[in-house]
Amino acid sequence: MKTVKVKDKEFELFLSQETIEKAIADVAEKINKDLAGKNPLFICVLNGSFMYASELMKRVSIPSEVSFVKMSSYKGTASTGKIKEVYGLEEDIKGRTIVIIEDIVDTGHTIVQMLDQLACDEPKEILVSAMLLKPAALKHSVKLDYIALEIPNDFIVGYGLDYDGYGRNLPDIYKIKG
Ligand code: IMP
Ligand code: MG
Repeated sequence: MKTVKVKDKEFELFLSQETIEKAIADVAEKINKDLAGKNPLFICVLNGSFMYASELMKRVSIPSEVSFVKMSSYKGTASTGKIKEVYGLEEDIKGRTIVIIEDIVDTGHTIVQMLDQLACDEPKEILVSAMLLKPAALKHSVKLDYIALEIPNDFIVGYGLDYDGYGRNLPDIYKIKG
């Protein structure tokens, strides 16, 4: 089994680039069918989504725009926990079909906060596309429209996902050994 060391931890090969990109191609095909004529604005959430967004958007063939945002993370009060805020969005999203491009939905905390904030700007609809979903980790009820792959609740790196900032450039996905 192919393994890599990222910082101080060992990871083993979990999903090959070929497997990932086949699943992404299927998502793109669905999006091309569902969103034809809707002129969607894709909003890619950096940093983790850069590889997924790149591969997906190469295969999206309908007229559309792509934009990039980040989520800032800061500590809220004890009752609110960690608050994340969307920043960097320059487009007016009022009345538009939005597709959020995320690397992974884990607990769902991030995507729920993002949906709440974007909804304030009155888009026509917001759809969610995540490369990966960990169904066993999900703590929120949230509508996820286009998921490329569902995975077990293991920590992974590669294809945009990092361990402490490293490993994002790996072209395959690795899971932590243990
Ligand atoms: P959530 O808010 O719990 O859904 O987590 C969302 C964010 O946590 C993702 O956008 C990732 O940046 C990060 N994340 C979740 N699981 C993993 C993982 O297995 N490896 C690397 N990053 C992860
Ligand atoms: Mg992310």
